Amino acid sequence: MNRTHHCNELGLANVGQRVSLCGWVNSCRNLGGMLFIDLRDREGITQLVIDPATAPQIAEIAKPIREEWVLQVGGTVQARPENMVNAKRATGAIEVAVDELKVLNQAAPMPYNLDDPAASDDLRLKYRYLDMRRSGLLDTLRLRHQIAHVIRNVLDQNGFIEVETPILTKSTPEGARDYLVPSRVKPGAFYALPQSPQQYKQLLMVGGVERYFQIARCFRDEDLRADRQPEFTQVDLEMSFVEEKDVQDITEKILAAVMKEVKGIDVQLPFPRITWKDAMTRYGSDKPDTRFGLEMQNVTALFANSTFKPFQAAVEANGTIEALNATGLAAATSRKGIDALTESAKLMGAKGLVTLKVDENGALNGPAAKFLTDEETAALKATLDAKPGDLLLLVADISFRVACNALGRVRLDLANTHDLIPKDKFNFLWLTEFPLFDWDFEEQRWVAEHHPFTRPMDEDLPLLKTDPGKVRARAYDIVLNGCEAGGGSIRIHEPALQSLMFETLGISPESARARFGHLLDAFSFGAPPHGGLALGFDRLVMLITGADSIRDTIAFPKTAKAACLMMDAPSSDVDSKQLAELGIILNTSQLIDSK
Ligand code: AMO
Repeated sequence: MNRTHHCNELGLANVGQRVSLCGWVNSCRNLGGMLFIDLRDREGITQLVIDPATAPQIAEIAKPIREEWVLQVGGTVQARPENMVNAKRATGAIEVAVDELKVLNQAAPMPYNLDDPAASDDLRLKYRYLDMRRSGLLDTLRLRHQIAHVIRNVLDQNGFIEVETPILTKSTPEGARDYLVPSRVKPGAFYALPQSPQQYKQLLMVGGVERYFQIARCFRDEDLRADRQPEFTQVDLEMSFVEEKDVQDITEKILAAVMKEVKGIDVQLPFPRITWKDAMTRYGSDKPDTRFGLEMQNVTALFANSTFKPFQAAVEANGTIEALNATGLAAATSRKGIDALTESAKLMGAKGLVTLKVDENGALNGPAAKFLTDEETAALKATLDAKPGDLLLLVADISFRVACNALGRVRLDLANTHDLIPKDKFNFLWLTEFPLFDWDFEEQRWVAEHHPFTRPMDEDLPLLKTDPGKVRARAYDIVLNGCEAGGGSIRIHEPALQSLMFETLGISPESARARFGHLLDAFSFGAPPHGGLALGFDRLVMLITGADSIRDTIAFPKTAKAACLMMDAPSSDVDSKQLAELGIILNTSQLIDSK
């Protein structure tokens, strides 16, 4: 053993003991010839002292030592003089008087100040291993390990078998672009990296595994955001012979155990359930943040005969008018504030945002006020319980989703601007009864709201052919503090229904066979009814640690442009021989610098 202790362990109880430590130089100071070194390892920091009077040879070796050099030291623990005690540090009452010193490695000057929280993100990503030493990332990685451990234990105790599934595979559609890997053995053919292990886990059910889980890597080529990375990790599970509640129960068990063991919090089970329709209407989101109020309401009926153009257009097109009372926020919301909210609503696709301030006499003020009849004004005020000082916000649109999402975005902006979100709450909920499909306006076709293997609700099956937009799915998302922490569903397990689903999605029988023949075949050989779910593991760690981005929970994350600055990946530094073997000829005129 190179060390007897870690750098967080020594205290007054060890005074007089001979110890050896290993680690990095966190800092070093020369005070009147005495050398003080803060030695850091994974666990903490211990102060070393080298006295040239008693250890002249050691002092000589120590002379060139700089920050981040790697040392092994031996010495005796001694109490610090009273005025030198550092109460903030676990080892602050002692120091180690060094009588043996070995420089295990030197370090070049650091490329940036490792303790500077304002250091550029790019530098920190390029030198991620240095960032890891001091920024707190190491603590997050340890917590991530602990959370994975708790999850594995719960699943193991509940009869789940951990199975690894392939990374080199065929497209598994989850709504993003695939990453493709060219095959050398079969030039012109490509593997796809899995967007999730979805089809494999269903095939494991056909194989009789009954309860599967995997802490699985997933790959999606999509636009990145704070809660998205091109490669990320899911806690993926699947169960046979189950209903929604069985999958939800085990998920609740996992999350309750994590919250208890990692945060010491007893969460209340079961988590509340809210239907998609209700969540959209009340919170303007399919991942509602329920830590604060500002609930929205559907007020379409109040404006059935409106002559105000935006309302009239929405009503005539069978659309929606959503409204929200920002209670007491009229005075606090300036002209500029209203412009910003309007911009937000527009970014979500709304054509505009109607804003009405309630004055001290109860009258509505705002550009749209004069277009509302007295009756409509009174009805709106009554419905929203509007009082002087309130700010009323409305979005009308021909699309239910656009109206709700736009006002939902405004709701979140208001909460952020006015600091209405309690940061210490953990609000879990289940979102249920999702629509099975969403209409893709660009491509003019139905797309799966989740993925094409999701089972429609039995009572909506007749609508599959006649009115797909109205079909609800047996799907459920787990939402934590306004973030989609996971999602799953009961699946289709019959070939005929699966084929009908592909057909509704505009996938021809030939294409369905080519892409999903393995699954259709498997379903014809006695597939059990099954269902499952996947938790976004990085997101879960982010939410539990309070990090701003999942990047802070991943050892080696990618930038917003899906690049690894440390390894310089993706890289165009590829051997032409390698490309030739793969049968690939680059069209250099199309190459762009993606850095
Ligand atoms: P879904 O696509 O909803 O479902 O993904 C499950 C969860 O994974 C997380 N997630 C992501 N996390 C980080 N970066 C990303 N790019 C990213 N994309 C998704 C989210 C999400 O809730 N196969 C289905 C699950 C199932 O039906 O069992 C699936 O992958 O937290």
